[in-house]
Amino acid sequence: MNRLVIGAQWGDEGKGKIVDILTKDADIVVRYQGGSNAGHTVCIDDETFILHLIPSGILHKDKICVIGNGVVIDPKSFLEEKRTLEGLGVEIGERLLISEKAHLVMPYHKEFDALKESSLGDDKIGTTKRGIGPCYVDKHARVGIRICDLLSLDILKKKIETNVEEINKLCDVYGIDRFNHKEIFEEYAEYAKEITPYIRNTVYYLNGVYKNKKKILFEGAQGSLLDIDFGTYPFVTSSNPTVGGAFSGTGLPYKALENVIGVMKAYTTRVGNGPFPSELTDDVGDNIRQKGGEFGATTGRPRRCGWLDLVVVKYAAMLSGMDEIAMTKIDVLDGMDEIKVCTGYEYEGRKIGFIPSQLEEFAKCKPVYKTFEGWDNTKNVESYSDLPDSAKQYIEFIERFLGIPITMISTGSKRNEVITR
Ligand code: GDP
Ligand code: IMO
Ligand code: MG
Repeated sequence: MNRLVIGAQWGDEGKGKIVDILTKDADIVVRYQGGSNAGHTVCIDDETFILHLIPSGILHKDKICVIGNGVVIDPKSFLEEKRTLEGLGVEIGERLLISEKAHLVMPYHKEFDALKESSLGDDKIGTTKRGIGPCYVDKHARVGIRICDLLSLDILKKKIETNVEEINKLCDVYGIDRFNHKEIFEEYAEYAKEITPYIRNTVYYLNGVYKNKKKILFEGAQGSLLDIDFGTYPFVTSSNPTVGGAFSGTGLPYKALENVIGVMKAYTTRVGNGPFPSELTDDVGDNIRQKGGEFGATTGRPRRCGWLDLVVVKYAAMLSGMDEIAMTKIDVLDGMDEIKVCTGYEYEGRKIGFIPSQLEEFAKCKPVYKTFEGWDNTKNVESYSDLPDSAKQYIEFIERFLGIPITMISTGSKRNEVITR
């Protein structure tokens, strides 16, 4: 089956772990959107790998990994990641293909990401400052520089010169140092030497392997609620993590996808700003953060923690047509007296079961909770029937609410800490 793994909340649901588990049944793992704003953690034995741009499938030595056309690539960050992985003994060799159509993150994208954030003050999005937004802006303004431009240094030079000339006008407005197009060109010409062997027309490649019935695993980054169209705009990222992004970000037809798995944490986290109705700003939230190690895999920022919000997950499931759910981090809730789940919102005196598009309205939504009895321990439990009864009640209620089966329950960060049903 060709499958898609997608975040059902605001990112960091444990997609890396689930992709790692599913990679054994795939031939090719492909990233289709986002960039090095992603941080996907995979724990194998005593080693922890954090993937940002390279698909998590790279850790399986016989699998091919593709960075699709919808991804934005910071070559500096890519090469650092590649070296780190190789240093940890991961052989990449010819197993990695980068789309020639993918856009390049440039130094001025990162600078302007940070600048825009600081000028927004308290209203800032809380981006990862990886240049993601400004890079997608250039893509859509049709002035972006693409991976294929690395193959022709004359073209690369000309494009950098033209773009830097424009950017420098903005630098003057903001009163910051101008960029030097020659320096940027020299830096990127160096990157080109190292990146060239990986560049491919991945649209034809992927369609070829699809025709040959190879199994493709799509690795979504970020989460459904961070989607530029369907997320909690403007507190979102600049790409489409939801299902449509998998097609526009790879060039594969919709028929190539047979199964969609939503990854959902047993509670909710969010990094950066924006409304979060079930957020816990008390000791319970602090306890979840500490126990769950809820600190960003990319930026190290503390993640905001709260109870599971099923309005959010149900919306995400609807958007991408999720067939099944992988629930992660149930072990983090071990030992709590009671556990709550948000099943709706109270908005101006009435109960609603949807997320208002107007963010100011969403910010006024108060969670309506259903309370569950806690449980002692799920760690090291290997089969569903051995889970504590109250954990089973929690899981089965969520399944009924969503109308979707929970087929994987992750009880720890390691590869083997998972219950499959
Ligand atoms: P991703 O961005 O969706 O891949 O998720 P992250 O890697 O950013 O964050 C998930 C974190 O939770 C990582 O540190 C994982 O190692 C960890 N993790 C994943 N599944 C589980 C689980 O079931 N239990 C616990 N305790 N940790 C988990
Ligand atoms: P993974 O793939 C969690 C958040 C940022 C910020 C907003 C916009 O690891 O789940 P950006 O840098 O993309 O312009 O930031 O999106 N964000 C993430 N939050 N997990 C991620 O990726 C994220 N990628 C971006 O914190 O709120
Ligand atoms: Mg992450």
